[in-house]
Amino acid sequence: KKTVREIDVRGRRVLVRADFNVPLDEEGAIADDTRIRASLPTINYLCERGARVILCSHLGRPKGEIVERLRLTLVANRLSALLGRPVVALRDCIGPEVESAVATMSDGDIVLLENLRFHPEEKKGDPAFAEELAGLAEAYVNDAFGASHRTDASIVGVPDYLPAVAGLLLEKEIGVFTRILEKPERPFAAVIGGAKVSDKLEVLDNIIFRVDRLLIGGGMAATFLASRGYRTGASHIETDRLDAVRRVEENAERRGVRLILPRDVIVTEKLEAGAPARTVASTEIPDGRVIADIGPAAVDEFSRELGSVRTVVWNGPMGVFELPEFAEGTRRIAATLATLDGTTVIGGGSTADAVERFGLTDQMTHVSTGGGAALTVLAGKPLPGVEALDDAGTP
Ligand code: 3PG
Repeated sequence: KKTVREIDVRGRRVLVRADFNVPLDEEGAIADDTRIRASLPTINYLCERGARVILCSHLGRPKGEIVERLRLTLVANRLSALLGRPVVALRDCIGPEVESAVATMSDGDIVLLENLRFHPEEKKGDPAFAEELAGLAEAYVNDAFGASHRTDASIVGVPDYLPAVAGLLLEKEIGVFTRILEKPERPFAAVIGGAKVSDKLEVLDNIIFRVDRLLIGGGMAATFLASRGYRTGASHIETDRLDAVRRVEENAERRGVRLILPRDVIVTEKLEAGAPARTVASTEIPDGRVIADIGPAAVDEFSRELGSVRTVVWNGPMGVFELPEFAEGTRRIAATLATLDGTTVIGGGSTADAVERFGLTDQMTHVSTGGGAALTVLAGKPLPGVEALDDAGTP
């Protein structure tokens, strides 16, 4: 796809779709500004070349209504502090006031439109709304990797009306995932965890044809253990996914992929803070207990397997890492990846949160800013937001 480097932006109004959908804490302050920081290269690139930068994003899921705590003013302030330049927050994303604010911009100026999802037309992918947004600018840059699996108007609609290119973050994210999925340095391992098989099934079905080793952790390991005929206590088993899990196992066997389940697990009666926990062999999960984390022997085995690979992709925590007593598996896998000298790619969402919490983000080759978008790419499916952009080399 065409990128922002291939277009002339000087003196032009450029609409940049960013993903400023940042987590907010209970007081409504920004809890993690990773996504804002990740957008800086594209914004700086455009400002330095004298573009008039019109930023837009969604925040949260306001369902087409104005929700005061989801205004983007906070994002504008943080962005301005990080850039060291003024960022003017507008009170809406379309309409006469926005048009006149945009008309008076000078080269290098930055404005941020109000939360796109205050208009129901955004999520509906409404073409008239997309056309109004497009009317503010002369070119469109999609830098919202994290939202590019959506078919919202600002993602797939605006490119119908403007020259449409990828920003530097989108380019980097797609580049990393394409490289590891299509030409990984081998051996290539995937570590897949999280609560549910159903969330990761498409990823498993795709990745099993690409990796040399597949390591399974998290609550979803229970469904794999059940499909191998083990008793899994009170762990949640997705009975409607047992066949799918068997299919993954069969494909692994056919391709000679080592598919490794945790040999021991931490179990508890209740997944809550302070609940008594113990380590058991995963073949001997007692009645009434649920898997809360992978065990120390599993961590050792996973770490050994990972120690000799050249590429790793990791998506989904190994346990309920939000609770300190069940965080050890996730923390140690993160620590193992941090010491590898091969390529380490962290799928976004909760896996990225975990790596950030353990202070290991900078030790990874790439920590994705996309949750659902990263899963879509790992499942081998195209992103609508990327498909909508102009092809490289088009005039
Ligand atoms: C994300 O946080 O994954 C993206 O910003 C998309 O948000 P959404 O799931 O509300 O569409």
